[in-house]
Amino acid sequence: MQELVFFKEVLEQTMSQRKMPQDPKRLYEPIQYILSLGGKRLRPVLTLLTCEFFSGDYKKAIDAALAVELFHNFSLIHDDIMDEAPLRRGEETVHTKWDINTGILSGDAMLILAYQYFENYEPKLFSELAKLFSKTALEVCEGQQYDVDFETRNDVTLSEYLKMIEYKTAVLVGAAMKMGAIVAGASNESKEGIYDFGRNLGIAFQLQDDYLDAFGNPDTFGKQVGGDIIANKKTFLYLTALETAGPSEVEELIKLFSTSPKDPSEKIHRVKSIFERSGAVAATEEKIAAYTLTANSILEQVQISEDRKEKLREFGHWLMGRTV
Ligand code: IPE
Ligand code: IPE
Ligand code: MG
Ligand code: MG
Ligand code: MG
Repeated sequence: MQELVFFKEVLEQTMSQRKMPQDPKRLYEPIQYILSLGGKRLRPVLTLLTCEFFSGDYKKAIDAALAVELFHNFSLIHDDIMDEAPLRRGEETVHTKWDINTGILSGDAMLILAYQYFENYEPKLFSELAKLFSKTALEVCEGQQYDVDFETRNDVTLSEYLKMIEYKTAVLVGAAMKMGAIVAGASNESKEGIYDFGRNLGIAFQLQDDYLDAFGNPDTFGKQVGGDIIANKKTFLYLTALETAGPSEVEELIKLFSTSPKDPSEKIHRVKSIFERSGAVAATEEKIAAYTLTANSILEQVQISEDRKEKLREFGHWLMGRTV
C-alpha cells in the first residue's frame, strides 16, 4: 500500500527535524540511539493512516503518532531489560550498550516526552487522547507483568496467555488507530470499531512475534532468535505443544522450561523440534489467520469507503507474512 511508504517517510522526516534536548548526554543519547535504529513504525503509521481514512488531515495526527512511537520505544527499552535481551533492531539493546540504570531513566524520560506531544492539542482533543493513552499505557504495564509472572508459572492457560498479549501489545495497536480516528473527529461507533480492528490485528501481530522469536531468520530478524525459549516464556507455541505433543515430549518440554542452561543452543533446538512436530507451529499460523479474519469482519461495521476497507484488509494480510 502506497500510503504506508508515504506515512513512514513523513514520520522519519518529522522525527529527524524535531530536536531533542542534548544534556545530560547519558539521558538523551540512548533515546536518540533507539529511535535512530528505525523499526517498522507500524503504530504511528496506523495513526496517520486512520486519520486520513476517516477524512481527517493526517498532519494534525502527527503529534499523536509521535507520542505512540515514543511510548512504544520506551516500552522496548524496558522490555529488553526485563527480557535480558542483547539485540534490538539488529544492534545492541540500550541496557547492553550503556547499563540498566541508563535504560530505566532514558525509558522514563521517553514516556514523559510521549505525553508532552499531546500538549500540542486543544483541550478537548488533549483530554480524549491523553485519557486513551493513560488507559492503554497502564494496560501495557499489566500485560508486561503477566508476561514476567508467567515465566515462572507452569499452570498458565491459553486464555490467560491471550489476555496477556492483548494487554502488552494489542491494545496499543488499537489505541494508535483510535487516536487517528479521534483527531479526524470520527463518530463514537467508528472509533470503537477501528479500535477493535486494531486490537484483533494486534493479537495476530503478537502471535506472529512469538513465532518469529523461535523461527525467524537470525540474519534478518534483528532480535536474538530463541530469546523466548531461553526465558521460558509461555507462548502460544509452548501452551499448544503441551496440549498436542505426545506424553514423553510434553514431559521433556516441561523439564526444558524449568532450566536455564549457560549454553542454550541444545535447549532451543529441542524445543523448536517439539513445537514443529506437535503441530504447534501450524496451530499458531491458523490462530494468526483467525484473528486477522476477525479483524476484517469487525471492519464491516466501520463507516469508511469500501476501497479503504480493502486497503486495511490488505495491510492485515501483509502483516501476517512479515519476517521482521
Ligand atoms: C516489537 O514491536 C514489540 C512487540 C510488541 C512485539 P515491533 O515489531 O513493532 O518493533 P519495531 O518497532 O518494528 O522494531
Ligand atoms: C513486548 O513483547 C511487548 C512490549 C514491549 C510492551 P516481547 O517481549 O515479545 O517483544 P520483543 O519480542 O522483545 O520485541
Ligand atoms: Mg522482549
Ligand atoms: Mg517481553
Ligand atoms: Mg517477542
